[in-house]
Amino acid sequence: MVNNKALESWVNEVAELTTPDSIHWCDGSDAENTSLVKQMLADGTLEELDQEKWPNCYYHRSDPSDVARVEHLTFICSEKEEDAGPTNHWAAPAEMKAKMTELYRGCMKGRTMYVVPYLMGPVGSPTSKVGIEITDSPYVVANMRIMTRMGNVALETLGESDEFCRGLHSIGELDPERRFISHFPETREIWSFGSGYGGNALLGKKCFALRIASTMARDEGWLAEHMLILGLESPQGETKYVAAAFPSACGKTNLAMLVPPQEYKGWKIWTVGDDIAWMRFGEDGRLYAINPENGFFGVAPGTGEDTNPSALASLRKNSIFTNTAITEDKQPWWEGLSEPPAKATDWRGNPWTPATETPAAHPNSRFTAPAKQCPSASPEMDNPKGVPISAIIFGGRRARTAPLVYEAFDWNHGVFVGASMGSETTAAATGAVGVVRRDPFAMLPFCGYNMADYWGHWLSLGTKSDKMPKVFHVNWFKKSDEGKFLWPGFGQNMRVLEWILDRCEGKGEAAETAIGHVPTEDALNIDGIDVDADAMHQLLTVDAGDWKTECEGIAEYFQKFGDRLPEEMKRQHAALAERLGIKVTA
Ligand code: GTP
Ligand code: SPV
Ligand code: MN
Repeated sequence: MVNNKALESWVNEVAELTTPDSIHWCDGSDAENTSLVKQMLADGTLEELDQEKWPNCYYHRSDPSDVARVEHLTFICSEKEEDAGPTNHWAAPAEMKAKMTELYRGCMKGRTMYVVPYLMGPVGSPTSKVGIEITDSPYVVANMRIMTRMGNVALETLGESDEFCRGLHSIGELDPERRFISHFPETREIWSFGSGYGGNALLGKKCFALRIASTMARDEGWLAEHMLILGLESPQGETKYVAAAFPSACGKTNLAMLVPPQEYKGWKIWTVGDDIAWMRFGEDGRLYAINPENGFFGVAPGTGEDTNPSALASLRKNSIFTNTAITEDKQPWWEGLSEPPAKATDWRGNPWTPATETPAAHPNSRFTAPAKQCPSASPEMDNPKGVPISAIIFGGRRARTAPLVYEAFDWNHGVFVGASMGSETTAAATGAVGVVRRDPFAMLPFCGYNMADYWGHWLSLGTKSDKMPKVFHVNWFKKSDEGKFLWPGFGQNMRVLEWILDRCEGKGEAAETAIGHVPTEDALNIDGIDVDADAMHQLLTVDAGDWKTECEGIAEYFQKFGDRLPEEMKRQHAALAERLGIKVTA
């Protein structure tokens, strides 16, 4: 069946260690999926949804202790600790492998071992890469089938090559005390044990496409980023592409699928990707981006007809719902979808009514949906060349400090803006929610090597071309003193995108401030929305006191990186301090 010696011998090696009852090579076919679903319905892993209203859709509840990424149990096991850097957890590769080998020993006894070949990126793209995930979770297989180009297409792409990312996954006993998500960047390997959830278990996503791929990208001169990719088509029929990095649960899926408001007749947003972008230089010196994924693993709560109708249209069929609530008539439900049902079963499996004090859906409950089902799916999604990027947007969730939008002075300043990003934590990872932390490039949990070297890599790309994208920063989440969002967000973010693209063409009114170019108070088109002059003023204010605190916080953060911090980052920081008229050094 397979004619790849390296693959065969690795599979045999893993089977010897984990001793499964049987081995199943996944071909990605419909028949295979049907039989897996049948088996999961029988053993309770999946629950069937109303097949008339939700064709081929299923519901899954994961263990209540296993509902988000676990950053404290995620390791970068490079040979040298300093290559993982101060923002990653590190363990010596030999020690981690010794410990995990004992966890894996015999762990698939009584289970089937699935070999999942998958392709990250369009078929035939020089940027695409093959991964193989070995897993004992049929739920993982069903999700990988939606999220990647899975099965024979990946084996055909691989051919006889031994260049594939080896990912070994077992759910173990789902014991949080025996859970590790380990990466070996130098050998492009992933070992994951003890979790069946999302980013911990679907190894093509954060583990390969970001942590391992970021290391490959550094070595090979490209970029692997936690970014959405969208195309913005003007009424004249011209499409420009942007990539945007926001931390987990901070609005990438929503922006990628934006439906322009009625004032924007003739404008159209095309979705290329909602979570990950791989970018390399084209022959013309521009950066071209592909979406390595083939599906969306999107946050359910807050997804409704008024906020993200395209996401709703995407998940109506062939989708999996994880840790949402389920209604008595077998429909998935979450806060923000519609009026609450009179009765439901919550994400823990408990009876729920609107009077129940806890949410029905877990705040990090998710849908897994095929990307091609999105009404705004870009015809370029399968283009092996990718799409040329005109602007890169960073963004965070900040109640204060960061204005609605600003433009960096130049590439190096843009790298500084990305490096110094801060954002409030969300339910996408276990731990406290709503605490501001530094999340450089929205890559804090996903960078596979020393973050300071990563900034150096970004700086070095700027010296290779004179056609680099312009860099911006946005914040949809600024709040009034009363704690209300000042900006309507969602579809209305179109107004900010318009200003960004105008700036790329040398248009768009802006005022120079200490942090960058901020729109003048009448520069954004706010026709038809309820944002008064006072709100606009607050949204665009660069508060001297807040930015003094911010600049001090960045200095303290940068100091963690010692002499790995690029000189240029220090210079950028000093320039910001000087523009703010304060004295702090990084
Ligand atoms: P990951 O998949 O975790 O990487 O997240 P993401 O960046 O794709 O986040 P997503 O678009 O799923 O948004 C997460 C949450 O933010 C959802 O509950 C959204 O409803 C909310 N959100 C997204 N965009 C906006 C916005 O413009 N304004 C406000 N107020 N909320 C938003
Ligand atoms: C994120 O947390 O940024 C996600 C979800 O996109 S997961 O795949 O679980 O990482
Ligand atoms: Mn993400």
